[in-house]
Amino acid sequence: MDKFIIEGGNKLEGEVEVKGAKNSTLPILAATLLTEDKFIIENIPRVRDIFTMKRVLETLGASISIKKDTAYIDTRGAIGYEAPYELVKQMRASYYVLGPLISRLGRARVSLPGGCAIGSRPIDLHIKGIKALGADISVVHGYIEAYAENLEGSNIQLKGASGPSVGATINTMMASVKANGVTIIESAAKEPEVVDVADFLIKCGAEIKGAGSNRIEIKGVDNLSGCEYRIIPDRIEAGTLTVAAAITKGDVVIKNVEPIHIEAIVDKTKEIGADISSGEDWIAVKMTSEIKPTNIETSPYPGFPTDMQAQFTSLLTLADGISIVKDKIFEERFMHVPELVRMGANLKRESDYVIIKGVPYLSGAQVMASDLRASAALLIAGLAAQGTTEISRIYHIDRGYENIEERLSKLGASIWRLRE
Ligand code: EPZ
Repeated sequence: MDKFIIEGGNKLEGEVEVKGAKNSTLPILAATLLTEDKFIIENIPRVRDIFTMKRVLETLGASISIKKDTAYIDTRGAIGYEAPYELVKQMRASYYVLGPLISRLGRARVSLPGGCAIGSRPIDLHIKGIKALGADISVVHGYIEAYAENLEGSNIQLKGASGPSVGATINTMMASVKANGVTIIESAAKEPEVVDVADFLIKCGAEIKGAGSNRIEIKGVDNLSGCEYRIIPDRIEAGTLTVAAAITKGDVVIKNVEPIHIEAIVDKTKEIGADISSGEDWIAVKMTSEIKPTNIETSPYPGFPTDMQAQFTSLLTLADGISIVKDKIFEERFMHVPELVRMGANLKRESDYVIIKGVPYLSGAQVMASDLRASAALLIAGLAAQGTTEISRIYHIDRGYENIEERLSKLGASIWRLRE
């Protein structure tokens, strides 16, 4: 298993470009299964999860090649209906084939994803949404089995105990684009990735209104066609680079961003003392002051994203005072906390929040990555720490950040990958 070695203390300076959004690329690749045609999808991030989704599509019988940041997909011809455990256990988002398969074939068999490092992550709302369209769904031998002769438009309330669900909104939207009549999704997730998937489907001929609000209206169409589409920039990668610039007292221009998608992250980074300016598709982050403490509570878009909680926790370990970071969306998303403590941070976890008492410095240590964003948090801490940090299990980072060591090195970080 590869490791990252980081010699901390270098300021990040220069320009860096953000890649395409992993979390909309995944469902958009799955959505190509909705119809028999050819697609060209640009601005694909070359990260591990995308290559897992490529394997899922290939297992189902589609042909897909990824050259640089463009995917060429052909979904003509027969496709299968089963997403096996071997793939779904590697990446939960494989469940995004459920909606497209039930729509195209009237049948789907998709492994239940099982446990996850950041919490229990049920998928009851995905099932609720697709059932509401008339599918018959049961869970047998660890698989979701869905059948439907016809899908019928319906009025679906998708609010769960923890608020709206990005995945369930997208899966239900994909399942309903060719259903008879009109589907209304109430309490829909408003994340930019939901809008990106809707825009892709619209480009294929779907009739969807209201994506980005909490009420999405989908008028079923008879068929969809292939298209060319460009994925939006990854807002979490942009946020991660923003925090990396701030913690190293750096001066970085981050390009290929959608400033409106990262407003909550930018506002918090300004609050802790950074100077941030922005243009149409870039932001510039400059940090000259000490880090000020702040409080954060994650919430669905446009609130502060749970996917940035861990990285911000790293930043606040060096603040001049006490901060509280609360995350109620995923109950176990604090795996970075004991690792940061090993680097000298003063953190105390209480159920769904962490109390952070700023320390003057972090010291490099051997730490272990446990999930994608927790790993990013350790990377950020390592960039600022005194001495050497060694992060093991970095395949978690490779799931969502393309070639991150090379891009950080170009900004002046001293980081390299130890291949084992
Ligand atoms: C997506 O996960 C992202 N993953 C996550 O990013 C992100 O943290 C999350 O949205 C929230 O923004 C992908 O897009 C692949 P949810 P998703 O359904 O769709 C509960 C990353 O690091 N819930 O919006 O699985 C759930 O437990 C990843 O890139 C149900 O109760 O998240 C949570 O408390 C990690 N029943 C809340 O809803 C369901 O059926 C929001 O989860 C589904 C979800």
